[in-house]
Amino acid sequence: MTSPTLKPPQAISLTQIAEQAERAEAMMGQIRAAMLAPTARKAAPIFNLSQLAALLGAEKGSVSHRMGRGDLPTGRLNEAGSRREFTLAEVRAWVREYRKDRLRPAGAEAVTVSVGNFKGGVGKTTTAMTLAQGLSLLGHRVLVIDTDPQGSLTTLFGILPDTEVDERQTILPLAMGSETSIRYAIQPTYWDGIDLVAAAPVLFGAEFALPARQTQEPGFEFWNVLHYGVDDVRAEYDAIVIDTPPALSYTTINAFMASNGIVMPLPPNALDFASASQFWSLFSDLTTELLSRRGLDKDFDFISILLSRVDSSDATGAIVRQWIQSTYTDKVLPVEIPKTAVTATTSAEFGTVYDVSKYDGSAKTFKRARDAYDQFVSHIETSIQAVWRKQVQASTMNRKAGR
Ligand SMILES: Nc1ncnc2c1ncn2[C@@H]1O[C@H](COP(=O)(O)OP(=O)(O)O)[C@@H](O)[C@H]1O
Ligand SMILES: [Mg+2]
Repeated sequence: MTSPTLKPPQAISLTQIAEQAERAEAMMGQIRAAMLAPTARKAAPIFNLSQLAALLGAEKGSVSHRMGRGDLPTGRLNEAGSRREFTLAEVRAWVREYRKDRLRPAGAEAVTVSVGNFKGGVGKTTTAMTLAQGLSLLGHRVLVIDTDPQGSLTTLFGILPDTEVDERQTILPLAMGSETSIRYAIQPTYWDGIDLVAAAPVLFGAEFALPARQTQEPGFEFWNVLHYGVDDVRAEYDAIVIDTPPALSYTTINAFMASNGIVMPLPPNALDFASASQFWSLFSDLTTELLSRRGLDKDFDFISILLSRVDSSDATGAIVRQWIQSTYTDKVLPVEIPKTAVTATTSAEFGTVYDVSKYDGSAKTFKRARDAYDQFVSHIETSIQAVWRKQVQASTMNRKAGR
């Protein structure tokens, strides 16, 4: 058994890596300082009636009318008595009622989506978090798994990886083989409808544990540990969203092998394009080595390229977008996430566009960002629903065949 090659992307110099490391360290310092401040605990946003109506795709008047039936949460008036407010949990109860026919059908189970790319800073973690939040606002129940030892996604949940995450809240015991189901690691979060499996620097241990087990345990498949690990909880969630580290590591391979779909955020610039190309060729080499040579195979239900951090003032963007389009063709989602002050501002407060109850900056800027993320989430929801239909069909066929 050869181990996966962990070649760095050749287009990035050591100086660039050192600079990037410095930037990351400085950023972590800022994050820690702000998070440790006494007020820096995360709370889910509060919704007003207009926001509730928008999520339901209904008129405010008809929502008020529907409230009269008394079977859905009525929220409460704010302190001034001027406005009705709803918690996230209340809003999700409404959404689940209004979107009944678009939720997971009987006979289907959680669809797993990994967000991956070799590079850091392309928007993986932001994409994973907004996808989870967006899906939950569409009524779905989501399990989020952070597989990046740096724990950025964990941080977005208001949890400090270095000091607040115990090894048993991560996938490390799964990787070590002391657990076979991921259930032990699941914790509820500040966000109704999203549970979390956290990450912390100890998770680097998985990079040693998995190859060691491969040489010691006969029949062990190091790439399927997470795949089997989530089996036990697939029936309890509608989607499982996995954030991955910026490397094709043992853990990253586990994330992909556990997934129905892959989302790759890709900023339209030359370096990121080059890095992404290497990602796919390395991925292909690796899966050939691991699976094809053993007579095994793996199908993905969807692979989606998400144009991320799109800087409309960048003149080269149009050219690179052309390259992306001709390379990845129908896999490119018809939506672009703009490089936006909204994400920059909200992430400074360890949040995303969905964490904002009321944006302090320009309403137009906020809407543009929010619309882009909403569209992205909606496209992935469509892919997830297609997988559910396949699952239902398969289970019906199995039933008919008496299996
Ligand atoms: N659309 C965007 N506009 C502006 N900044 C963004 C956008 N998406 C992500 N960022 C910022 O870029 C940085 C890297 O994003 P992140 O999601 O952590 O990427 P990765 O997980 O690939 O390293 C973060 O500070 C994040 O807030
Ligand atoms: Mg990340």
